[in-house]
Amino acid sequence: MIKLTVNASRKYDVVMERGALGKAGEYIGKANGRKICIITDDNVDKLYGQSEHALWGSLTSAGFDVYKYVFPSGEDHKNMSTVTGMLEFLAEHSFTRSDLLLALGGGITGDITGFTAATYLRGIEFIQVPTSFLAVVDSSVGGKTGVNLSSGKNLAGAFWQPSLVLFDPDVLDTLSDELKLDGMAEAIKAGIIADPQILTMIGSSAGELLDDNDLLTEIAAKAVKVKRTIVEEDERESGKRALLNLGHTAAHAIEKCSDYGISHGHAVAMGMAMISAAAAAEGLCEKAFHEEIVSILKQAGFALTCPYNTKELTRAALHDKKRRGDSITLVIPEAAGSCRLKKIPVGELEAFFEKGLI
Ligand SMILES: NC(=O)c1ccc[n+]([C@@H]2O[C@H](COP(=O)([O-])OP(=O)(O)OC[C@H]3O[C@@H](n4cnc5c(N)ncnc54)[C@H](O)[C@@H]3O)[C@@H](O)[C@H]2O)c1
Repeated sequence: MIKLTVNASRKYDVVMERGALGKAGEYIGKANGRKICIITDDNVDKLYGQSEHALWGSLTSAGFDVYKYVFPSGEDHKNMSTVTGMLEFLAEHSFTRSDLLLALGGGITGDITGFTAATYLRGIEFIQVPTSFLAVVDSSVGGKTGVNLSSGKNLAGAFWQPSLVLFDPDVLDTLSDELKLDGMAEAIKAGIIADPQILTMIGSSAGELLDDNDLLTEIAAKAVKVKRTIVEEDERESGKRALLNLGHTAAHAIEKCSDYGISHGHAVAMGMAMISAAAAAEGLCEKAFHEEIVSILKQAGFALTCPYNTKELTRAALHDKKRRGDSITLVIPEAAGSCRLKKIPVGELEAFFEKGLI
């Protein structure tokens, strides 16, 4: 069992333990007649959300009055109308501020549930039970919640921390390799930012990495430690938290150019390869470190050749609704475990991308 404590505006534990789904009731603590609403998507519901499954049984045994809200899976449903459906459901069932929500699923479920928790009755408690590798490595920790608007991804949201993150490594058994790779990209990102040991673990694993739940859990715990340190220092992203956006300027552009056919994790992998290549070409990153990044990404199984030209990427990056002003902030990997923020004028972005195409 691995237990980490995050000291953000709310203090909470991240627990990683085999069989944790069947112990959720114990971990959440005294029910005192409270209601809990499991929020999940239709895929994860079939696998882990049914009343005969361990999670539900554990919650009822602990005395919770258990409800469930299921929404259709996929980024298209990470929107305000799903949130409205959830809010109405909670109100119809008279949830009060002492009741709680439980996000059972991947990053989409966590982001929507967190946002619903932040807004229902001006804020109720929620628990993250990540079931995708991406969610345990990254999205379930740190308190960023939100939904997409028609103008772009994650444009409405709130900072709202969970009161517990509970991960059961056994859920990885039903996750495809492609989806595991999405989380792996974020784990490699954490390694590049602050923990070279993550890179060593991935680099020295001989092929069976994606099937080894214990190793994946160890990697997730290390990545969470990196995120915890940054979030504790800069919860609302006024500075250092932006380091977590390593590779994301190019990644968001790649996702957009592909009309979201290339997943976020795979785009982040390409984006990290690009930014390190460009930084190495400008003498900002050690050449050997750039080569190490590319080699680890390839070994993990990522295709790194970006299918778009620099004009297409620049257009997509500069139309990002979150971009402000005449400059853009890039995260530059300098050496193993060391990154820094660098502002460049928007007019220089295309030339920077050009140096990064590999
Ligand atoms: N809040 C944050 O800090 C943060 C950070 C990174 C990403 N995100 C967000 O996370 C989202 C992506 O997360 P994701 O990749 O987990 O997507 P997701 O939630 O859509 O999950 C991916 C797919 O896997 C399925 N799934 C989940 N767990 C499973 C399991 N154990 N077995 C079988 N299938 C399973 C889901 O039903 C879904 O179809 C994006 O919307 C992104 O914006 C948020």
